[in-house]
Amino acid sequence: MKHLLSTKDLSRDEAVQILDLAEDMAQAGTREVKKLPALRGRTVVNLFFEDSTRTKISFEAAAKRLSADVINFTAKGSSVSKGESLKDTAQTLAAIGADGVVIRHHSSGAPRVLAQSGWIDAGVVNAGDGTHEHPTQGLLDAFTMRKRLHGDASRGRALDGVTVTIVGDILHSRVARSNVWLLETLGAEVTLVAPATLLPVGVDTWPVAVGYDLDAAVAAKPDVLMMLRIQSERMNAAFFPTAREYSRQWGFDDERLARLPAASLVMHPGPMNRGLEISSGAADSARSTIIEQVANGVSIRMAVLYLLLAGGAA
Ligand code: NCD
Repeated sequence: MKHLLSTKDLSRDEAVQILDLAEDMAQAGTREVKKLPALRGRTVVNLFFEDSTRTKISFEAAAKRLSADVINFTAKGSSVSKGESLKDTAQTLAAIGADGVVIRHHSSGAPRVLAQSGWIDAGVVNAGDGTHEHPTQGLLDAFTMRKRLHGDASRGRALDGVTVTIVGDILHSRVARSNVWLLETLGAEVTLVAPATLLPVGVDTWPVAVGYDLDAAVAAKPDVLMMLRIQSERMNAAFFPTAREYSRQWGFDDERLARLPAASLVMHPGPMNRGLEISSGAADSARSTIIEQVANGVSIRMAVLYLLLAGGAA
């Protein structure tokens, strides 16, 4: 594997291999000395053209735990804000000897352009591109589900028959897309629930069931309920009447939490709009995996950087 651009590119075996390797990385993280020497002498650049909290620090922690040298490049305050193109930026990174580039960009497809351009010969990891994909988020979500649902028997397994309901702003969500493709590959059954205005055109061609009623979705007792953030910054029109109306119909609140089976997981990629798509009671409940998702993200990103940059052999 040279790049990670989309979960569509992963076979079932490759996906399970990444999840298993992330288990090894998580174990290494419990040792007294957390650092592994695997990427000593390699340089990883975090190239972030869009705001991020957890994804950026997660990639940074992952690269550092593998002993890589990490350069954080944020578009704000760089020559990008003076109009420098992706090509010029890539050539600069090539000149300083970057081996891996982790890129977040507001344009869907920017990571693939970088990977295929020939401007730089580095492994490229998509850390979120527009509304297109966020493959390491899909992987860390699958890892979190597998760990919670299969426990010690996780290794080597996929998610066959696991029912996952993804709720909310599917239209603008790269997290939803990366999850849908990966979960299908891993054998899970996905249902999307949203107001019709927040479902993408062509969703009928996706490998999912579609519903519009959160109460019906909760009554169906899914193994996993994944809430998505309302991405106001990507909305150029009114997609629902009011925030109050949205949370009444599609918000996961304390009352709906009470109706969800005790064994079901509640997930959210963060950042959350507490009180809009999810209540604090649900976000902070024992069924919530939100903090685990962040911790697991480091292990997944270590696994991905290792596979891309350490020469492949595990
Ligand atoms: C997501 C993203 O940026 O795509 N957040 C994340 O990476 N944890 C989801 C979001 O912004 O809602």
